[in-house]
Amino acid sequence: MKIAIASDHAGYRLKQALLPVLEEMGMDYDDLGTVDEQSVDYPDYALKVATGVARGQYDRGVLVCGTGLGMCISANKVDGIRAVTAHDTFSAEMARRHNDANVLTMGERVVGPGLAAEVMRVFLTTDFDGGRHARRVDKMTGIERTHGGC
Ligand code: RB5
Repeated sequence: MKIAIASDHAGYRLKQALLPVLEEMGMDYDDLGTVDEQSVDYPDYALKVATGVARGQYDRGVLVCGTGLGMCISANKVDGIRAVTAHDTFSAEMARRHNDANVLTMGERVVGPGLAAEVMRVFLTTDFDGGRHARRVDKMTGIERTHGGC
């Protein structure tokens, strides 16, 4: 599985803490920045990860900012992206099983590195349940076609 991970300055330290976890998990990943704690704009990093996932270059994305929220809102602007903010393992599991979420966002100011690692681990190792949930995910995608840009 190929993963894209990125953060803004407010998520930089947590993003750095997650990299060895990806390595331990044997994940193939690209760190798309940022590279330090100098102030940057989170939509720029959300766009890099979201477009990479939407184009099929990556299977999943992980984004970290201060809260996880700005990254989530930004990533969800890209067609084909189902980004969720999750700071607990139950939400991470259900986001995969029922919503087929493809981008996880977390906030460094919200969650510690230990729990964040577990949330990411669950998100990256849980499969979509399919079945009736596939119909609903298809309907979400349909909203992009029918209401995109309005
Ligand atoms: C940066 O200060 C902060 O606004 C950002 O990291 C994020 O929390 C936005 O949603």
